[in-house]
Amino acid sequence: MLPVDLRGDFPILQQTVHGKPLVYLDNAATTQKPVAVLEAIAGYYRRDNANVHRAIHTLGERATARFEEARHKVAAFIGAPSPAQCIFVKNTTEAINLVAYSYKSWRTGDEIVLTPIEHHSNLVPWQQVARRFGLTLRFMPLLPDGHIDMEGYKKLLNDRTRLVAVTHVSNVLGTINPVRDIVAAAHQVGARVLIDGAQSVPHMPVRVEELDCDYLAFSGHKMCGPTGIGVLYGKMEALEELEPFLFGGEMIADVDLYSARWKELPWRLEAGTPHIAGAIGLGAAIDYLSRIGMAEIVRYEKELVDYARPRLQELEGLEIYGPRGERAGLFSFNLKGIHPHDVATLLDQEGVAVRAGHHCAQPAANWLQVPATVRASFYFYNTFEEIDALVAALGKAREFFGHVS
Ligand SMILES: Cc1ncc(COP(=O)(O)O)c(C=O)c1O
Repeated sequence: MLPVDLRGDFPILQQTVHGKPLVYLDNAATTQKPVAVLEAIAGYYRRDNANVHRAIHTLGERATARFEEARHKVAAFIGAPSPAQCIFVKNTTEAINLVAYSYKSWRTGDEIVLTPIEHHSNLVPWQQVARRFGLTLRFMPLLPDGHIDMEGYKKLLNDRTRLVAVTHVSNVLGTINPVRDIVAAAHQVGARVLIDGAQSVPHMPVRVEELDCDYLAFSGHKMCGPTGIGVLYGKMEALEELEPFLFGGEMIADVDLYSARWKELPWRLEAGTPHIAGAIGLGAAIDYLSRIGMAEIVRYEKELVDYARPRLQELEGLEIYGPRGERAGLFSFNLKGIHPHDVATLLDQEGVAVRAGHHCAQPAANWLQVPATVRASFYFYNTFEEIDALVAALGKAREFFGHVS
């Protein structure tokens, strides 16, 4: 168990759905927000609301200070050497697109290495730049349980490899990829590495200097923060390689009628009024997670996984996908003969919120050779009783469809 009961911090979890206590197990899609985050956002709008970096007046100075303080918190949270290396964006998707569209030195024939089970956010932007600049996408081979075949990966690397873009934790299989080794191998051929941290930064300590990654992308809303705010971290020299692709206010040092010069990092990659309240909310989320401790969150989510796995496996006709050993706090599965959408609908009747579909990773479903899966994903506020409720609801779903084999 976690040392303190945090459920009371999440008003949304106190409700019933269809007359049953809400069991929220769709945390890989988005997480719930504690009161501390809600109050930080409301407090900003109540007391400090003004635009940042421009005004001389008191509110403007306060808003700027709080916005930049949030950036410091982000940097400390991921161990970035400087806050200037943390660019505020909308979400993981925008962070990846920012790299894809701002990197201007692609050469025809350059290769980008991915896994075949990336979220669409870490696949489609690369498809687009590949088309535009004549690049080649290469895909790491996977072992049957979804882990990367590291020997196969290393064989793909060569002097044309410009970038390796890989998820840290798969949002479909729950595999935790050995990103440090992936980075080390890529650096040997001079390639840059982008880590999609959407499913790792919220759930485990992620220290960019230890991973030695060139870029890291993640979303605030998956870590108790608000929607609409995310982060692109980069090594200074990797960020220097990016030319802005959004132009306008906030990113400009000086302008004449025919030309303009950009501000320093991080602002030159943040055109227009930023999501100030979002950044402050993310800062509050980071404070909240840090008070619990990321090591504590990892430990507790592992307990949830160890508790859930045998109980799910006991259900006849339930097939779990992904690794048998260590996995992140999520399970994708199917109940034999029942469409995942029907399973999710029935679970909702029992108050249990899960996801059904391809989870924005259609190639991952193809790799599993299934059209879709059900996904139950945990966070530190979930309880063992909620896993019991999930298992009971799945048992009911199976009976309802008369598939007791
Ligand atoms: C692994 C992974 N990458 C990227 C994303 C995209 O995140 P966002 O929609 O916040 O941009 C997700 C969201 O589910 C994800 O799980």
